[in-house]
Amino acid sequence: MAQLQLTDVTKLFGKTRVIDGLHLTVKSGEFVVLVGPSGCGKSTILRMIAGLEDLSSGSIKMDGNIINNLSPKERGVAMVFQNYALYPHMTVRDNISFGLKLASMPKDEIKERVFDAAKTLNLTDYLDKKPGQLSGGQKQRVAMGRAMVRRPKLFLFDEPLSNLDAALRVRMRAEIAQLHKGLDCTTIYVTHDQVEAMTLADRIAVVNGGKIEQFGTPMELYNAPQTKFVASFLGMPPMNFLPVKMIQSQLVPSAAVTVGFRAEDTQVVNSRSSSVEVPSNEIRTKVRDVPLPPGSVKMVELLGGLSHIHVRLSDDQDVVVETRSALTPELIPRIGDVIELTADASRLFFFDADGRTIFKT
Ligand SMILES: Nc1ncnc2c1ncn2[C@@H]1O[C@H](COP(=O)(O)OP(=O)(O)O)[C@@H](O)[C@H]1O
Ligand SMILES: [Mg+2]
Repeated sequence: MAQLQLTDVTKLFGKTRVIDGLHLTVKSGEFVVLVGPSGCGKSTILRMIAGLEDLSSGSIKMDGNIINNLSPKERGVAMVFQNYALYPHMTVRDNISFGLKLASMPKDEIKERVFDAAKTLNLTDYLDKKPGQLSGGQKQRVAMGRAMVRRPKLFLFDEPLSNLDAALRVRMRAEIAQLHKGLDCTTIYVTHDQVEAMTLADRIAVVNGGKIEQFGTPMELYNAPQTKFVASFLGMPPMNFLPVKMIQSQLVPSAAVTVGFRAEDTQVVNSRSSSVEVPSNEIRTKVRDVPLPPGSVKMVELLGGLSHIHVRLSDDQDVVVETRSALTPELIPRIGDVIELTADASRLFFFDADGRTIFKT
């Protein structure tokens, strides 16, 4: 287990500044997820920690010691990639133990470590198989086993589940969470998937354009995003945003240009089409709810226990409402129905022209 500290880390590729004065402290045993859109610099940050990429400036410390100039091997770091890159002609056992053999570890020690890793990863019955005989999830587990047997001080994962189908991703996510609990190893995990970030992380760092926009627990980021970017990145569907001029509320601070509210804090209050009846538990007549301009139903997504109604308020303004009750067929709004919405006045976020959160009700 290691504590890790990145101070003022900058990385240039040619003249392009890809990482820009990054600060990050990861506590010993912590599971930190770096999340952000493709190209924001996540892999570069991970590769610098692993020693696969030099820093242009700044420092990386592990347990208080600067490791900038240590080789990848000397850092005690293991990395698992999206592309598991197993040797196809070798058995699972040989794939897992390959690195240890290269390092001339005694045979008994290798055997014990492979046995332990295989047990933890449910691979014991597959040790003599070749990668071609395994499923995607099993292959990814072999890649994790290869990292685990090195008993690293720090585990790095770069989008390890991106190549797997949806169901397998959910299962492997749970397995990685379990694995981390068991190993208690400091972990930095990169993903562009906000659900993975929310479910796995002790703390999430939201990366945007080579900088960390916010670093905190999943619920801190969800409930108190410091920027519009963080608000839009975490949560599914993403937070609704409208220009403040589209709402009438005394709550609007003077510097605010955008108001944000989540789909689950948006309600259907009535509809101008007789065909739409609103489920009674959706009608909320709280005085403080903020009315939105009327809109027309653009799309309805029935997800079973809840549904998402996409409503077009004007040419370029759409809002998504999440209804938490299952809609019976006669209650499902039809495309084009005119509908009136409110947003929960106690759950509004106001952003300034620079996208910073200036007020939260
Ligand atoms: N070796 C490289 N040479 C030049 N540009 C690079 C190199 N590696 C990454 N980049 C650029 O740096 C930016 C960040 O890349 P990366 O860290 O891979 O992003 P992410 O992992 O978040 O998708 C991208 O614009 C990418 O094109
Ligand atoms: Mg990447």
